[in-house]
Amino acid sequence: MPISRKMRRLIKRTRDGSPTIFIPELNEHYHSVYGAIAESEHVFIENGLKRIAKRNLSVFEIGFGTGLNAWLTCIAAEKDKKKVLYHTIEISPLNKEEWQEYEKYLAGSAGNPLFRHVNGCPWGKEVIISSWFRIKKIKDDIARHNIKGTYDVIYFDAFGPDIQPEIWTKEIFSKISAVMNAGAVLTTYSAKGEVRRNLQAAGLKVERIPGPPGKRQMLLAFKPFQ
Ligand SMILES: C[S@@+](CC[C@H](N)C(=O)[O-])C[C@H]1O[C@@H](n2cnc3c(N)ncnc32)[C@H](O)[C@@H]1O
Repeated sequence: MPISRKMRRLIKRTRDGSPTIFIPELNEHYHSVYGAIAESEHVFIENGLKRIAKRNLSVFEIGFGTGLNAWLTCIAAEKDKKKVLYHTIEISPLNKEEWQEYEKYLAGSAGNPLFRHVNGCPWGKEVIISSWFRIKKIKDDIARHNIKGTYDVIYFDAFGPDIQPEIWTKEIFSKISAVMNAGAVLTTYSAKGEVRRNLQAAGLKVERIPGPPGKRQMLLAFKPFQ
């Protein structure tokens, strides 16, 4: 089903206390109901960002959503003293009221200036958030977007393959694989067999690893060195 701005978006708490957004029309959450922050830390920070040893690296995210992954990456970049260039694509950005409401639910971090900066900065241009983190938020559809640049880490965080099968295809993974540097990693919460086969068909080397809380497995896909 096409994603539309008209779809209702409701904020819900997940099991670790951190918030997510639920779209009743799709019966789909933006994050795991077992813990939004726990999922993001496990899938994207620990098994994406931290798998690449470079001090300077580039990340491409599919699905900016609430900006949770971007914000946690910004925090991790500063902590690990890594310079991160973060490009992210989103078909249906939250409006200011929505992300401000979401921010209120982030326990212990409400009013975090970095979260506000990441969400409040303009779309379509590169913005310096801190000495460790630059971001460009692109409002477009990954299916028709011509990806520019090359990347060390891909956060593949669209809605699930059962909801959006048209996004988890060999064609889209091939387009992404073409902009991955040798040794780059694509990380995703999905462990579905068809997703694994489509990633392999796009020339990536796929591994199944333990998933975040509530999920037995997830996938990593590496760009071979040759
Ligand atoms: C699982 S949520 C992402 C959560 C997000 N990474 C976060 O940290 O909050 C999926 C996101 O992908 C976006 N999306 C869905 N289809 C898309 C497409 N074709 N192109 C770009 N973004 C898309 C949705 O609007 C939604 O915000």
